Amino acid sequence: MTNSVFQAFDQDPEFEKCLKALVQTISTKRSHLTGIKAPDYLYTQGYASALSDIKKARGSGLFYPYLSSGIGNGAFVQLADGSIKYDFISGIGAHWTHGSDAMLEACIRGAIQDTVMQGNLQQNLDSLTLIKRLSELSGLDHAFLTTSGAMANENALKILFQYRQPATRLLAFEHCFSGRTLALAHVTDKSKYRVGLPDTLTVDYLPFYDANHPEESTQKAISLLESYISRYPDAYAGLMMELIQGEGGFYPGTKSFFMALIEVCKSHSIPIFIDEIQTFGRTDHLFAYQHFGLQDHVDIVTVGKLSQVCATLYNQALQPKPGLVSQTFTSSATAISAAIHVLDELTQNGYLGQDGLIMSRSNQMRDGLKSIAQRRPDIVEGPYGYGGMIAFTSYKGDPERTMAYIRRLYEAGVIVFINGNDPLRVRFLMPIGGVTETDIQKVLVVVEECLDP
Ligand SMILES: Cc1ncc(COP(=O)(O)O)c(C=O)c1O
Repeated sequence: MTNSVFQAFDQDPEFEKCLKALVQTISTKRSHLTGIKAPDYLYTQGYASALSDIKKARGSGLFYPYLSSGIGNGAFVQLADGSIKYDFISGIGAHWTHGSDAMLEACIRGAIQDTVMQGNLQQNLDSLTLIKRLSELSGLDHAFLTTSGAMANENALKILFQYRQPATRLLAFEHCFSGRTLALAHVTDKSKYRVGLPDTLTVDYLPFYDANHPEESTQKAISLLESYISRYPDAYAGLMMELIQGEGGFYPGTKSFFMALIEVCKSHSIPIFIDEIQTFGRTDHLFAYQHFGLQDHVDIVTVGKLSQVCATLYNQALQPKPGLVSQTFTSSATAISAAIHVLDELTQNGYLGQDGLIMSRSNQMRDGLKSIAQRRPDIVEGPYGYGGMIAFTSYKGDPERTMAYIRRLYEAGVIVFINGNDPLRVRFLMPIGGVTETDIQKVLVVVEECLDP
């Protein structure tokens, strides 16, 4: 943080002593979470009624019977029934880890600030730190903080439509997921998510890169893009891209595929919008567009999940007019402090690069899954994805058998999730800030054991 009154307080020796003592106390408490454990019978009845209460209170049940106790250790989470599980989906990519001294310290430094939330009217100095870091690291001119991935995308769309006024259409990829607001439900390529909703946005879809047919899929996407543009000249606010499709099933594209589309768009002044809500901090670079070498061509980028605070990053040319984007909250002071910590960790502690921690954990997990696929070709295909985004197909992607399989994994102490559609895939988003080699070895054993004999 910039030199300030708060910094003088937050470095006060008395405060430092209390902080270290608190961190040490929590650290000792969580240090015993070192292996998978079944529920404790003392808590199971209360847990069952909490699950039924949450169903009543929310109006819908939970996907997993998951209610955390609030205590975790690295890749381990302890549920409120006393069970300990490996979290290999990390809140669908949001958790850096389950409890680390450094993260706890960052959160406490945020939590002791005078207000819980920061906003656009009144923000604290650490908002400035985060905004500056995001724009410096991205190479984009500006960063606007917000509360969810969907809001970051909404803001990006508003900026793009205002910039390209009177454009009315958007280009996006088939099978993309971009959020569930009234507008984004029309971008997300899943009709189930917009049942009963009025039309808000007209989206023309391009087929994504197909690794089995690189040339044909690239040509197909370019031809379709060109035909859309000639049918609706000047009608497009932007091309919105996920560079590794997340909810779609962890399908990565390639630089040449993206560049082919970008060149067509640029020749028609159509801005390039990269949705990095799921890819941020999951490749060998901080941003996936840097991994694909597209940094000179992007106009607007959104981040979320692992970034802890969501944001829309954009170039000066797209500067929105006053009043277009704002909201009461940008984020909590705690999350802003956590976001700065995650950026520091990712960029300064050996996570990035081909030899960095993200790729080494990824390679270990992928090698393990490859070996399982060789031993059990009847059930397992893959792995797929890139970096910290790994998936495999089980049971040829049969939805019923895949769901039954991930529930068996849950019962056995490994939490994963699904993605993709026909084939449905088993998805891993490891808590990259806490997962160890030993964790991965142990999870791979469970992954194999839970397959049908
Ligand atoms: C690529 C992508 N964009 C946008 C979103 C929406 O983010 P949120 O759920 O935080 O609104 C998601 C969420 O999974 C996502 O994966």
